[in-house]
Amino acid sequence: QILILDFGSQYTQLLARRVREANIYTEVLPFDTSIEKIKQYPLLKGIILSGGPSSVYLQNAYKIDSEILNLDIAILGVCYGMQLLTQYFEGAVELANEQEFGKAIITIDDKNNPLFRNIDTNTQVWMSHADHVTKLPKDFKQIAHSNASIAGISHITKPIYGIQFHAEVTHSLQGKEMLENFLYDVAKCTKDWNLDDFIEEQIKEIKEIVQDKQVILGLSGGVDSSVAAAIIGKAIGKQLTCIFVDTGLLRKNESHEVMKAYETNFDINIKLVNASDLFFSKLKNIKEPEAKRKVIGKCFIDVFTNAAREYKDADFLAQGTIYPDVIESSSHGASSKTIKSHHNVGGLPEDLKFKLIEPLRNLFKDEVRQVGFKLGLPEEMINRHPFPGPGLGIRVIEEVTRDKVAILQEVDAIFIKKLRDWNLYNSVSQAFVTLLPVKTVGVMGDNRTYDYVVALRSVNTIDFMTATSTHLPWEFLDEVVNEIINKVDNVNRVVYDVTSKPPGTIEWE
Ligand code: XMP
Repeated sequence: QILILDFGSQYTQLLARRVREANIYTEVLPFDTSIEKIKQYPLLKGIILSGGPSSVYLQNAYKIDSEILNLDIAILGVCYGMQLLTQYFEGAVELANEQEFGKAIITIDDKNNPLFRNIDTNTQVWMSHADHVTKLPKDFKQIAHSNASIAGISHITKPIYGIQFHAEVTHSLQGKEMLENFLYDVAKCTKDWNLDDFIEEQIKEIKEIVQDKQVILGLSGGVDSSVAAAIIGKAIGKQLTCIFVDTGLLRKNESHEVMKAYETNFDINIKLVNASDLFFSKLKNIKEPEAKRKVIGKCFIDVFTNAAREYKDADFLAQGTIYPDVIESSSHGASSKTIKSHHNVGGLPEDLKFKLIEPLRNLFKDEVRQVGFKLGLPEEMINRHPFPGPGLGIRVIEEVTRDKVAILQEVDAIFIKKLRDWNLYNSVSQAFVTLLPVKTVGVMGDNRTYDYVVALRSVNTIDFMTATSTHLPWEFLDEVVNEIINKVDNVNRVVYDVTSKPPGTIEWE
């Protein structure tokens, strides 16, 4: 087992995923986790110190409990992590004249170092640092360098290593092998994390916890809640009741399709609550994106709470919380600015005293999908693009009305269907349409039109933190636009958003 101490790098989750992909269980903990807490992990083989945006020489720099360095386990510092090790072992770190951001070639100085077993002497890595090591720490040797900096260090007697580059990023072409060298050869981890065992253990655990009691779960139609329903359903069948709230802000026919999919695939109870009138009335006159999120989140909780109250006998509330939600909601590393409040659904009222069941809270998204496959869920359900909690409410720019949502649903359905017809759906990470609050002039036949503009967006991304717009074939876009303009009333112009993130965000609001 490996622990990752997080100093706020945007790549920390990626680091954790790489470890899991190597079939080793890992958890991400805040950088200041105490030695006592760390000692509670009896199978601990190593610790990885993540990167982070800060500088180790600043007064309030993030530090670890230094006792950790005396544990007899393997340690790997990545970027900030390496600089921190340098400081602890009396080396020096300074702001570099030549800062490295992006691809770089490093040269391995110590070919026999276990970290670099089977790694080419010159290999491409991903650098992202302003500070660098200017004096080697005591009892360490340099094991790799780039043109601008020391790229790797290792302790001469202890299993302590540092790398300046981000081995976890795919641009580090042999990064995966280096991490595996650390995990298998240095830390001596065994490959014992696998999802079949996980599913069996969860089913057993859910049965033991729930016994003959009832469980309710809020379904969204998305991957996480579907897989949570599947695993809990497998354990306790009809003792599980899923509540599916139709907010009116779902995709075209979605509530119908979701209900059908659940009824055919699961042996559980499902209750559909149609609350669209309430959502549209609450959204009247509200234009500002964050205000909309708040209204929709609150409305959702109210509706769900009312529905849940009907299940007074239920002792448990199940949720499709996944590991990134857990990491993001605990305070780790650097404080980050709120660009959008993604976790807009707040908690349930205090008087509803359910005990929580979160069978997926230790899994990453790709692991959740694999569990879904293993449990036999249909491919379309598992590979669905993410859909934001506020739904089309943040894809109708400014005020949301039933009529505008209806227009958007039609356009969106055409775009998504065409992506599937052209076999493009699974190769893009997220695709959708936004309805703009502007009308423009067009001509159809001999007539002037004055109608809405819609914006198509399709992005490719690994972690949704950064994204690039998909280079969709022009012929494809032509076909989509034709169909939209011909089939959907009130839309006479279609644009394609090619902004990457940053500086854009994926959603327009
Ligand atoms: P942005 O627009 O921030 O989106 O680049 C990144 C990812 O998050 C989704 N998203 C949301 N999900 N509630 C959600 O549950 C929200 O309010 C929300 N806003 C954005 C977005 O669809 C993308 O996958």
